[in-house]
Amino acid sequence: MPGNLVSATLRGGLFTRVVGKRLLFFQEIGSTMDEAGREAEAGADEGTVVVAESQTAGRGRLGRNWVSREGNLYLSVVFRPTMQALPLLSILAGVAVTRAIRKTTGLDPRIKWPNDVLIDGKKVAGILAESVVTGNTVSHAVVGIGINVGLDTDAVEDIASFATGLNVVAERPVPREDVLRQLLHDLDALYLDVGQGGSPMGEWRALLETLGQRVQAHWRGDSCVGLAEDVDELGNLQLRLEDGRLVTLSAGDVTLRGPEP
Ligand code: BTN
Repeated sequence: MPGNLVSATLRGGLFTRVVGKRLLFFQEIGSTMDEAGREAEAGADEGTVVVAESQTAGRGRLGRNWVSREGNLYLSVVFRPTMQALPLLSILAGVAVTRAIRKTTGLDPRIKWPNDVLIDGKKVAGILAESVVTGNTVSHAVVGIGINVGLDTDAVEDIASFATGLNVVAERPVPREDVLRQLLHDLDALYLDVGQGGSPMGEWRALLETLGQRVQAHWRGDSCVGLAEDVDELGNLQLRLEDGRLVTLSAGDVTLRGPEP
């Protein structure tokens, strides 16, 4: 059985102000999202992090399953942001994941809108943000991050065609505790920066491989093709349709379509 990932992470030193002030580790859990949500409801401080070695009910965006076997990274972080900062959480998490992967592996991850982290066109990480808002106040938000590190994605039929893991792309075993430690540092730095009026949007936009591409966007059973022109200040995708109209998408998925035939 692998050692406790959180102990290994702390052994290397964790110098953060908010994210990771409290770290909980589970060998197996349903979903770290649910555990972090329970912690938040019970009054846990923001920055509480729930890490699991495996999940029996890991979930992704749009109600999808998230393959959660041993050997990867699965974590959820409790935040208590302002209403203004809430839409930036997912964005800053995307930036933090790419920074952490770059710093620990030397690889060059990119982002596919809305927030899939890709290396060489294959997905290595995903981000899920959930929140409880009452009136104009954010009660809490939970940001979940899954990073494929050691998983043999080729052996998992459902994801083999579009996913990969850090060990495969780096062609060496990447220590998960190094990625986790760096990720917590980057999440902390970016969150503190947002609190000081900063924004991760510029860095995130520069990481988006989707911009300038002809894409097919899928959302709730509907789909349309257009040019991914830009993202707005909330990270919504602005798609120029073939009839010239501009549509703004707040959620969904895109697939690259290549140049017009
Ligand atoms: C996506 O669909 O791309 C988002 C995937 C998010 C997966 C992570 S793994 C840790 C946390 N717990 C979950 O059940 N989901 C998120």
